[in-house]
Amino acid sequence: MCGIVGYIGHREAFPIVIKGLQRLEYRGYDSAGIALYDGNQINLSKTKGKVEDLKNKAKEISQAGSIGIGHTRWATHGVPNDVNSHPHYSNSGNLVIIHNGIIENYEAIKQELTKRGYTFQSDTDTEVLINLIEEVKKTEDVKLGKAVQIALNQVVGAYAIAVFDKEKPDEIVVAKLGSPLAIGIGEGEFFIASDASPFIEFTNNAVYLEDEEMAIIRLGKEIKLRKIKDDAVAYPRILELQMNLEEIEKGGYDHFMLKEIYEQPRAIKDTYRGRLLADQGLIRMAGIDLNMEKFLNANRIIIVACGTSWHAGLVAEYIFEDLARIPVEVEYASEFRYRNPVITDKDVLIAISQSGETADTLAAIKLAKEKGAFVFGVCNVVGSSIARETDAGAYTHAGPEIGVASTKAFTTQITVLTLMALKLAKAKGSFSETKYREYLSELETIPNKVEKSLESNALIEIIADVYKESTNCLYLGRGYNFPVALEGALKLKEISYIHAEGYPAAEMKHGPIALIDEQMPVFVIATKKGHYEKVVSNIQEIKSRKGKIIAIVTEGDEQVKDLADHVIEVPETLESLTPLLTTIPLQLLSYHIAVMRGCNVDQPRNLAKSVTVE
Ligand code: AGP
Repeated sequence: MCGIVGYIGHREAFPIVIKGLQRLEYRGYDSAGIALYDGNQINLSKTKGKVEDLKNKAKEISQAGSIGIGHTRWATHGVPNDVNSHPHYSNSGNLVIIHNGIIENYEAIKQELTKRGYTFQSDTDTEVLINLIEEVKKTEDVKLGKAVQIALNQVVGAYAIAVFDKEKPDEIVVAKLGSPLAIGIGEGEFFIASDASPFIEFTNNAVYLEDEEMAIIRLGKEIKLRKIKDDAVAYPRILELQMNLEEIEKGGYDHFMLKEIYEQPRAIKDTYRGRLLADQGLIRMAGIDLNMEKFLNANRIIIVACGTSWHAGLVAEYIFEDLARIPVEVEYASEFRYRNPVITDKDVLIAISQSGETADTLAAIKLAKEKGAFVFGVCNVVGSSIARETDAGAYTHAGPEIGVASTKAFTTQITVLTLMALKLAKAKGSFSETKYREYLSELETIPNKVEKSLESNALIEIIADVYKESTNCLYLGRGYNFPVALEGALKLKEISYIHAEGYPAAEMKHGPIALIDEQMPVFVIATKKGHYEKVVSNIQEIKSRKGKIIAIVTEGDEQVKDLADHVIEVPETLESLTPLLTTIPLQLLSYHIAVMRGCNVDQPRNLAKSVTVE
């Protein structure tokens, strides 16, 4: 998830673009860049680091010009460095582009362009796109707008782009599919941005492009809106924005955490984009393909992580053993690194980390590598320390997670780990083609089912109000949902400061049931798939001791509804995929309770987003 900004009008573009990028840094902050046209040439500056670093570096170029584009990057292809930063030039130096999104088929296009003599300075998909546009412009002998339209019909993926041509510097061409793009309409000036925060102080009139729409923005003219697919005329819908700046940065949500909870359908889809090819019965993961033997011949898989990532690792243990029949053990990185573990070169270690900077996880990786193990990373930050330390890996594409409480990181980690387990299960032949295809198809339905689970938000807010003054809570789950119970308890603890414990539901009888009374809310995950009848028995044990029961159930469940004080429904899915759905109500529940208790949801007390110290 990156931030793009553009300006064309009667003011100096530089200060507008720079300030706009600063407002979009919450979307990504690996690197930043700007390109300006001063009436004679394009002046471009870009650098690894934040917009503040760009401001310093841009002192080396002319900052004149009233047309400019800028970009703040969240790396997905190519590590964060100067050369991979946007904007990117075409080979001729005439065209320049900024891009938020992922071009899935960029390698094939790059090969074809290379054959035609194009060269590439960076590892990015974006540089491929701008040279495809240039190639089309040349071979079809068309203007920039038409070249963009033709080129975009050859790419697969997601994009919000802004392109300009120094040979026609009175226009900027923009296009959108899957990533947001807003056009601010001022008096004799236009603004382009990923959201309205860069231009809300200049105008509150905006056009939000729809998917598969593009626009040619020309000074002194009306915006020309087109359908990318067939160049058909589209009609701009000008909105008068009422939101203020802070609301816009949070996408209209009150907190980043809530925004990130609601981003999960998109984040899960972006994470399997280009990897899950259900209709072809394929899972494409280079990090696994290139190291398949290591996984298949491993004595075991050791998963190391901390916090929420450790809970994702626990879910992975169930998935890998259940589907791929590979022995797995899950370790707290902080314990693993100090207990003098037995590690051999027949072990595969999977390190899970949203930030890619967690000190204990990094140390566990180094220990495992010293002892000869193969180390695979699952990170959300491209080029992070853990991503660079591991032998191979697979990124989640959740985009920046700003809220300290991890939400979309958890579900996208599970998505990557599920893809890995399915790929290994297929390679081992540990289950039938039919079952394999069933999993692939069901995984594709998850974003919509997460969307459906989010629809219980209003009900969850009502339930949160009932239990917001609790001093202790229990979370129970069985099988795949035991880790979800742990994760739900962690969410509540870390943002509402209420003590909560997660337990395997069957463990109640071994002690915790002594805690049950009318003051003890018990959140029970009781979905149809996964020891349902056993969990119902646990619920009855709690009820007979007057415990308050809030149950997460499969939609349409009538049995638990008669037993519990509250039920929250999630759509039915395969047992191994239920964590992707059952965690949603627990995220929302902890969020609403924390808000009602006046807690600082995005920056809870005593916590940091990334624990880079021991
Ligand atoms: C989860 O909500 C917490 N923010 C914390 O437990 C976090 O998951 C843990 O610190 C691990 O961080 P990482 O995923 O960046 O390694």
